[in-house]
Amino acid sequence: MTNANGSTSTSESAEGELFELELLGQGTERRYRRMRPEVEAMPWGTLDASKIPSDARIAARRAWTAAAFQEHRTGLAVSAALRALFECRAPVDLIAMAARFPLDELVHVELCARMAMELGGGTEIRHDPNALIVDPDHRLPPLLRAGDMIVRFFCVGEALSIPLLRGTWHAARHPLPRAILGRIVRDEAMHGTFGFTFLDWALPGLDDKERQHLGRAADRTIRAIQKQWDAVRSNRNHAYDETAGDALGWMQSDMYLARAAEAMESRVRRPLRARGIPISV
Ligand SMILES: [Fe+2]
Ligand SMILES: [Fe+2]
Repeated sequence: MTNANGSTSTSESAEGELFELELLGQGTERRYRRMRPEVEAMPWGTLDASKIPSDARIAARRAWTAAAFQEHRTGLAVSAALRALFECRAPVDLIAMAARFPLDELVHVELCARMAMELGGGTEIRHDPNALIVDPDHRLPPLLRAGDMIVRFFCVGEALSIPLLRGTWHAARHPLPRAILGRIVRDEAMHGTFGFTFLDWALPGLDDKERQHLGRAADRTIRAIQKQWDAVRSNRNHAYDETAGDALGWMQSDMYLARAAEAMESRVRRPLRARGIPISV
């Protein structure tokens, strides 16, 4: 499964810190479970990993671990955007919508990580925790700082990921990945439209220069995602795609790339241009 994300390039290296997760347990875990009972409600334990060819199983463990890491990074991105929404004194109901996103992403982190465990365990990801997202220039005024992040993380990253996640969900045949992806798709629907709701409120307060700044922020993110697509394109292997797809059900690379290009046009470029954000890529 390839995940679209609008934040930054992944800094995975032999040196960085290991991406590991833990739960504190007891009362704290119980309160978390009460907040999001859907995690425990997933059909855990229904997947017989021994029936999946070992190559496909290893690739799936790697893909779900990478998905957990992407969700972790998105959690950081939506938290940074939430802070900026407070700083620019966005409307209370708009901030309230964004306030549930960090918890949504945290749930996605746990779902993806536990899916990797069901397949035999997570794989090693090393990263630099200080380089997970690119912060906007702190000298920018608060409204533009919020706009800079929301355009990158939501109008590009989250808006693009909805149709791709939905495609992956439809391709999933086993009840467990299907339930997990279904949950993520339901949460992401709101994340994907949020950026444009914010822009519709913020744009009257931004002048032409500031709109051009937002256009450049979108350009950089779109370019970074196009680079990820190049990597998917050069690594694709039809025979492998089909084996993994049969075992676990995710989109074949060519279908993913076609959908991604279509979504970039209809869900990202067109709505940004319609709002007068000048994008050039
Ligand atoms: Fe997510
Ligand atoms: Fe999200």
